[in-house]
Amino acid sequence: TKTKPTIITIFGGSGDLTWRKLIPALFNLNIDEWLNEQFKIICIGRTEMETSKFVEKLHDGVNQFSRRGKAQKKEWDAFAPFIEYRSGDFNNKTIYNDLKKDIQVFEKEAGESINKIYYLAVNPQFFEDIAEKLHETGLAADKEFARLVIEKPFGTDLATAKQLNEKLLSIFDEKQLYRIDHYLGKETVQNILAFRFANALFEPIWNRNFIDHVQISVSEKIGVEDRGAYYDHSGALRDMIQNHVMQLLCLIAMEPPVSFDADEIRNKKADVLHAIRKINREAVHEYAARGQYGAGWQEGDQVPGYRTEKNVDPNSNTETFAAIKFFVDNWRWSNVPFYVRSGKRMQQTNSVITVQFKPVPHQSFPDEAIENWQPNRMIINIQPEMGIRIRFQAKKPGLKMQLSPVDMVFNYKDTYAAGIPEGYETLLLDVIEGDATLFMRADQVEAAWEIINPILQTWTDNPSVNFPNYVAGTNGPETAEALIARDGNNWTTVPISN
Ligand code: BG6
Repeated sequence: TKTKPTIITIFGGSGDLTWRKLIPALFNLNIDEWLNEQFKIICIGRTEMETSKFVEKLHDGVNQFSRRGKAQKKEWDAFAPFIEYRSGDFNNKTIYNDLKKDIQVFEKEAGESINKIYYLAVNPQFFEDIAEKLHETGLAADKEFARLVIEKPFGTDLATAKQLNEKLLSIFDEKQLYRIDHYLGKETVQNILAFRFANALFEPIWNRNFIDHVQISVSEKIGVEDRGAYYDHSGALRDMIQNHVMQLLCLIAMEPPVSFDADEIRNKKADVLHAIRKINREAVHEYAARGQYGAGWQEGDQVPGYRTEKNVDPNSNTETFAAIKFFVDNWRWSNVPFYVRSGKRMQQTNSVITVQFKPVPHQSFPDEAIENWQPNRMIINIQPEMGIRIRFQAKKPGLKMQLSPVDMVFNYKDTYAAGIPEGYETLLLDVIEGDATLFMRADQVEAAWEIINPILQTWTDNPSVNFPNYVAGTNGPETAEALIARDGNNWTTVPISN
């Protein structure tokens, strides 16, 4: 079914996000017939440009980045007229007044209230000012259909996150705010809910009685690329752990929701965040490890160390890797460690959740039969491999009883032939439909900062003395290995798709 008539205004519309992600996603939504014929995309940027030139650039972006590949002429011709480019300063009221007029005309034509979506694809320093201007011109007033979409960072620590929430909530109702965590739009991430709560098989063992520990590992081969100016003030803890990784942890650890209502799911996730044990500043070294990459090699190419990347301080103490051991102090998870890690310039690009089960209570097989014994593991592959594996022991064919680990595999590419939507398609459709389930609520953002803040402060106050401490193209610093090895565990290396 087609969605309501909509005007989506993208502030910072001439930037990378619009070109690479937002327009390809909206284009695909139109092909799949989600968008109303009365649809308008107004991109506002500071660069002067004709709409026709701008549309050409976006066409190019779609050809490069759409999951469907090069755009079909007919499909592009049907979509391109939605787009309009306007240049202007975000502080200039004219932009907002013009927008207001457009919306009024559009609403008159439509004969109903339309969706008014404001997407802030801008540096976070502009969030509050733009929100304020929207408010002053009355553009935020429609509590039901005016929506503000923002991307992280939602503050740079607990205090600034609170300040931002306070400001936005003085203008918008919480239900008008869509804080994007793009990981939540990923198919494999949404599937965690389906997997856990649409099956009777796993939930009974999803607790401390059967699960030994959980690992969440989000590794990237890329370095900071051209984002040094942002990243050097951020670091892995803020860039990945506080948001994406904590959200994955919530989905693994949350209690079953009563319904699929946005607030019900978000309440259950917030409960997890509140149950996470706070790490005291004195204990940070026991629970967390940080790293920064030095020069190294990746697939035969030499790659520079972090401190020599563009727009990075040559003495930078920013971490490009972080690993933390969390505990979720509630009945279900008491004393089950959740080891998380994320880093840049790692050996592989992959996001994987491993749930490791406890050993059998009594091992009846002789020593020679269990030489290759491994614990049961459930491996949820988020990307690039997409699927779930369950590792169990089987008898290796032969005349003797010998056990070996084997995998039961569910693989997206074998199971679903049709294309898999991109995260931004899901999330933009949700904004248009007014479904906030997959978005971050103010209290979730603050609760996640509360957990991260002591680590952040400790690291800031005590610059690392041994950075760089891992070589690009490896799996992070030794301290991260030691963190998990102290408990007798190892980071699991995941078999790549067969
Ligand atoms: C972003 C981070 O939120 O997520 C980037 O700012 C990171 O540093 C990116 O590279 C990873 O996203 P994905 O979807 O490629 O795993």
